[in-house]
Formats: sequence, structure tokens, C-alpha cells
Amino acid sequence: MRGKGFDPEFMSALKQKNDIIEVISGYVSLDRKGNTHWACCPFHHEKTPSFAVNEAEQFYHCFGCGVSGDVVRFVQEIESTDFMGAVRILAARAKMPVPESNFDTEQAVLLKKKRDTLASILLDSARFYLSNLYGGEKQAEPHLQYIANRKMSPTTVKKFGLGASLDFFSLPEYLQDKGYQRQDLLDSGVVTESKNGKLVDGQAGRLIFPIINAFDEVVAFGGRLLEKSDFAKYKNTKETMLFNKSKTLYNINLLKKLKREQPIKEVIIVEGYMDTISLYQAGFKNVVASMGTSLTKEQARLVKRYSENVLISYDGDFAGQKADLRGLEILNDEHLNVRVVPMPEGLDPDDVVKQGADAYQKCLDNAMPLVDYKIHALERKYDLSKTEEKRRFVAEAVKVVSSEESEAVKEELTRKLSKKTGITFQALERDMRNALKDKPIEMALPKEKLAETASGADQKQKAVRFILAAKLFSAHYAKTYALDGLSLSNETHIVIREYILERERNGERIRPSELFEILPENDVELNEILDLNYGEKLTDEKAERFFKDSVRTLEREALNVKMTDLHTQFNHSQDETERKAITKQISEIVKKLNALKRK
Ligand code: UTP
Ligand code: MN
Repeated sequence: MRGKGFDPEFMSALKQKNDIIEVISGYVSLDRKGNTHWACCPFHHEKTPSFAVNEAEQFYHCFGCGVSGDVVRFVQEIESTDFMGAVRILAARAKMPVPESNFDTEQAVLLKKKRDTLASILLDSARFYLSNLYGGEKQAEPHLQYIANRKMSPTTVKKFGLGASLDFFSLPEYLQDKGYQRQDLLDSGVVTESKNGKLVDGQAGRLIFPIINAFDEVVAFGGRLLEKSDFAKYKNTKETMLFNKSKTLYNINLLKKLKREQPIKEVIIVEGYMDTISLYQAGFKNVVASMGTSLTKEQARLVKRYSENVLISYDGDFAGQKADLRGLEILNDEHLNVRVVPMPEGLDPDDVVKQGADAYQKCLDNAMPLVDYKIHALERKYDLSKTEEKRRFVAEAVKVVSSEESEAVKEELTRKLSKKTGITFQALERDMRNALKDKPIEMALPKEKLAETASGADQKQKAVRFILAAKLFSAHYAKTYALDGLSLSNETHIVIREYILERERNGERIRPSELFEILPENDVELNEILDLNYGEKLTDEKAERFFKDSVRTLEREALNVKMTDLHTQFNHSQDETERKAITKQISEIVKKLNALKRK
């Protein structure tokens, strides 16, 4: 969606009249070195500048925290506003009118309007609940009592914007009096319809926890029952165009503020609202909650913007953790450095921190890498003094260790396991090899080829990035290279290729900063590619050689894929003539591969 609904001419005029150097200089002081202007990053705490602004291409990129964007994105982030808000600010700055009706479609205008309406309903509801709590109403007394029982201070309550729902009808009445339409109220999730068609507060009687996104917008509510009952203890308002549970983390708004004040060494992820609030109050401000469900890829990426290091601090009930351990692999997949905080059985972080901040700090100090934690969890599951249970423990532990990639870690864990169980290192290693044998059999390919595929994906990725960067920044040696034939699997790579091809077809200039209008916020792949534009990587004397190498790498990869296919076909074929034909094709590929090597 180029320009997010605005006509590209308007966007380009807007950017021309708002030079990125001038705009950013209004917020931080820039220090010019060659083509690049440097500053300490306004989006994360640092002492030496790693925030770079590229004047020629009109975009910024931080080498410390990885964010990047054009002038619109910068204003969006620094002013905590959305795309429209940033456009308005920049238009006002340049004394340009904002074209109201220039959206791509009427539907886009309607969607935008709907979103604004829902956001406004949620904000008004949050204010309403808030005023209930301290409005001196008798009905709010149980809520206040509950807050006191759970040892939340008034400052904390205010910080998290907690509120009280007093009954079924006062909220819908209040909102209707404000002029909101019935359908909008229902769509916002705060109001539901009773059996007889009346509008009711879905959270009636509950203590209210507003869920706020990174742009300080209230997007949903969690509500807690004040007393034990058969109803669900917590209830969230439904998913809407503002609220997607799997992309949201509770307290992300305060985490974002924290990052501007100080470096965030690690982010603690807990399960619940109360865990978050209690930890925050005790001084562990670097905390967010997954709100009870298993972590998702989107949540992992969200966390990654704040820190590479994650501490998982879930409840100390092992039944619950079984499923979550799987969720934790997602964090590993996103290349976050994950450790798990062991919790006393039956307690959650809220319970522990109630005993004092140092009690919780002790748990943090005992945090362990995911594999170690899995073994630790198994140890607690089995009674190692019983032979039968010990055997089962060893069988499961061996499986966990064998799935670990690093040989060094594997060896260390095996040693520990041996010490724990009294079984010799050699015997465990043998079991480990057997465990690996149970894995699906891989097809027989030339040895040399297998060695290549392990690092192949990584190499291919690097090659694609370099080629795309060279094309994006118009490196002279990349001019004649055609992207058409490139087989790509990564979504971002495909978008970038399509952008470049479209520009080339129209004979227009390629402007890397236009990609910020097309790609989602803080696209990690785009950041990697922009990284290559610095440190002369694209222009020094090695660049051209590296480009040619990259092109060859991709050709080789494509041939390898073909060869793997042919091997599979060969293995599945019973027919002699077919087999011969395949062999011939394979030898042709081998020839081509050898020719590539000689180049
Ligand atoms: P827990 O059951 O661990 O509750 O659920 P808790 O956070 O310790 O709550 P307190 O201390 O009893 O008040 C963890 C999280 O799972 C979600 C909520 O986000 C909760 O904070 N949850 C739990 C629900 O959405 N619905 C429920 O019925 C229960
Ligand atoms: Mn709890």
C-alpha cells in the first residue's frame, strides 16, 4: 500500500518539503561525517552515537537498536503517533494542506474513520472506569478494597490506569449520551448485547485493566472478578481492528517509555496482569505479559525491538509450563537469547515479589538457558531415586540434549547428566547417537553437497541481501544485473524486488526510502539490507567482487536445488531408462557447478 492511501505525488511533495536532516535536527543534534549525520539514538538509551541519517537517500537507521525509517516514520515514532498523525505534523510544518479525499478508496476512508471511532470509545471507557474508581461511589468500595488487598499503591494504580466497572448499564448509557452509535459500541468490544437486546457492559462489576499499545492507545480491557466464582476469573474484550491478542503484549507502552530513559538489558515476560503490575511496582520495570496464552512470533518480534535478551518468568506450575515450553522455541527461532526463571512450585511472580524484591531477584539470578531448563523440568517430574523413573528421565533427557545444535553445549550437558545419574559419559553418548538415528532418514547426496546445505541457507540469505542492497543504492557494478530470474522465498525480499523492477520498467529513480511506505513497520530484513549501505560496504574495492560472488552463490544454490530434486526423483524411480535420463541431467548440473567453481 504505497503512501497508505495518499496519492504518491502528495507524499513525495511532503517529503521534499520536510528534509529529514532538518526535521530530525529539531529533536536531536546531528553530527555530520561525510554523507552521514550521526546522533545518539532517540529511541534507545546510548552513550556513543549509532543513529545514522542518510541525507542523500533521506532515511535513518540505528545500528544499536536496528530501527530505521523515513521522515514520516521518524515523526511517528518520536511523537508516538500513527501514520496520519505524522503526516499532519509534517504537512503543518511545511504549510501544506492535507488532501482529505485522496485516499485510494472510499473504503480506506471508512476503515480509518471506524478505527478512530473505536479508539475514541475505548479511551472514553477507560476514563469512565477510572472516574468510577476514585469517584467516591459506594459501589467502588469492593474494588478499592481489592486493590488494597493486593498491595497496589495509588501511584501504581494510576500508572496502569486501572478502573472499576460498577454495573451493567452505566457505561453503555454514558457512551450513548456522548453520541456514539450502537453498532460502533458493539464493534469496540466494551459493550455487548444482552439476550433481550439491551446494551450492557461486558465487564460489569469487574476491576478493569486497560490494555494499551506502543502508541499509548487503549485497545482493549482485561477485567478481573473481585471474588471467586464459576465465571472466568479474567475476561478480555473481544478482538477488534484495534486489538489482536497475539500481536499485543501487556505493558508494552511503559516498556517503550523505559527504553527512552535507560538501556534495557533484558525483558522479563510474565503471564498475567498482576504479575506485571507487582513486578513493576517492585522496581522490575522491564516487564511485559503475554496475557496467559502461548507466545507468538509477532510477540517475539515486538519484544526484540526492546532487547535481544528475554527472561521467561512463568508460573511455577509444571502442568502449565509443558505447553509453554513449545511457545518458547518461537523466541529461539527469532534469535532472541532466552533464559527461563525457575519459580517455586505453585507460586507466580506476583506471589514471590510480595515476599520482597530480593526474593524475586534471587529467582532472576537463577535463570537458565532453555535446554538446561527443560532438563531441570524433567528432574522435577521424576523421582531419580527410583530405578524405573530414573530410566525414563534419562531417556527423555537424552532426547532433549541430542536436539541441541552446539556440540560444545551438548558435551557440557552430557557431562552434567552423567554426574547427576551416575551413568557413564560414553553410555549417554551412545544413547544420544541412537536418539538421533530415530530421526527421519536423510536422502543420500554427495558428502560435499550435504556440508554445503548446512551453511547454504545462510549464505544464500547474505547473497540476496547484498544483491538487493547494490540494486537499491544503484551501485554501478549491479546496473546490468536483472532481478527477474531470482528465486526468492522471503516476503520482504520479494517486495523489494518488485519495487525495483517496477521502477526499472518505468525508467524511474530508485529511492530506498520509499520502501518504508510499502513495508511494515521495522521490517527486520529491510534493516539488514540497509545496514549494508554503511561503512562503505557497497562502494569499497571489495564490493564488486562480493557482488559477483553473491550472484554465483545464488546460481550455485539454484543448481543445488535442482540436483536435490533429481536425486529424489532418481531414488523414487524404478524405470531404468528414466534413471539413465536423470543421471545425465545430474552430470550436466555437476558440469555447470564445476564451471562456476572455476570462475
Ligand atoms: P493466571 O490464572 O495465572 O492469573 O492467568 P493471575 O495473573 O495469577 O491472576 P491473579 O493473580 O489470580 O489475579 C494469567 C493470565 O491469563 C489470562 C490473564 O491475562 C491473566 O493475567 N487469563 C487468565 C484470562 O484471560 N482469563 C482467565 O480466566 C484466566
Ligand atoms: Mn497471580
